[in-house]
Amino acid sequence: MITITTPDEMRAWSMSRKSRGRTIGFVPTMGALHDGHLRLVADATQRCDDVVVSIFVNPLQFNVDTDFDAYPRPIDDDVAACASAGVAAVYAPTAAVMYPRGFQTRVVPGALADLMEGPGRPGHFEGVTTVVSKLFGAVGPDVGIFGQKDYQQLRIIARMAADLDTGIEIVGHPIVRDSDGLAQSSRNVRLTPAQRDAAVVVPRSLDAAVAAARSGTPADAVDAARSVVFAEPSARWEYTTVFDADDLTEVTRFGVRSPGRVRIATAVWFDDVRLIDNRDLFED
Ligand code: PAJ
Repeated sequence: MITITTPDEMRAWSMSRKSRGRTIGFVPTMGALHDGHLRLVADATQRCDDVVVSIFVNPLQFNVDTDFDAYPRPIDDDVAACASAGVAAVYAPTAAVMYPRGFQTRVVPGALADLMEGPGRPGHFEGVTTVVSKLFGAVGPDVGIFGQKDYQQLRIIARMAADLDTGIEIVGHPIVRDSDGLAQSSRNVRLTPAQRDAAVVVPRSLDAAVAAARSGTPADAVDAARSVVFAEPSARWEYTTVFDADDLTEVTRFGVRSPGRVRIATAVWFDDVRLIDNRDLFED
């Protein structure tokens, strides 16, 4: 496995692979790799000849400096994990390489970024689309794999890849969870053991919503989810919303109750750690 730190070297590596007829699968990450990331890598390995993983904590997408500073950066462990997972190249540029003096261009997402997480995190998705465009430009993948864990991000990137004629196929990988149901996240390591135990209320709240949605309204589903979070004193509920899986608009009444159409998402805080989760409301 090779580790690459500049876009020019990255592009040269990819071009040489592609000239040999090999396809490239790409998994962009901010590092602190966990099993969720590695399952995306395994998915990419199934679909393509060579897999590239990028590791870059992108300053442009953080709203709060302390969150950026506190973001874990175990780069040696990450590189080792990629090597064991059969990754062909790790792309790990520095912030100075990504955003040199004079950098000024941004990729501005559309309406999908104004919903859900958007209003509370101004500029966040623009930071994501900008960095992912740059990473796509350097890596030149055939396929980009993203997690449904960040469902809104996945939809925004799929839209961007189509709108900007990248020709890159965007794949959404299902959420990888711990055995108690908590979605894996690089932020989970910042929870105390007590908070980690309590955090199970996040997926359980969505389970409660799924049960309520069978016979109730979207508002009933949100109420059911919220009560589960409210019952945990160390949890601070931010939002729960029922939304259209395609255009992300809020769903206020159910039409057909079939899988793949309507999802529910939530954000819950434990002290200064913000956890997000989502799921299909009508999956089998
Ligand atoms: P990061 O949070 O490191 O996540 C990298 C990828 O892993 C994303 O596509 C995310 O959705 C996916 N992922 C994380 N946890 C997951 C889980 N439990 N199950 C399934 N997939 C999971 O998302 C980012 O980084 C950044 O915004 C990035 C796209 C790299 C741009 O900076």
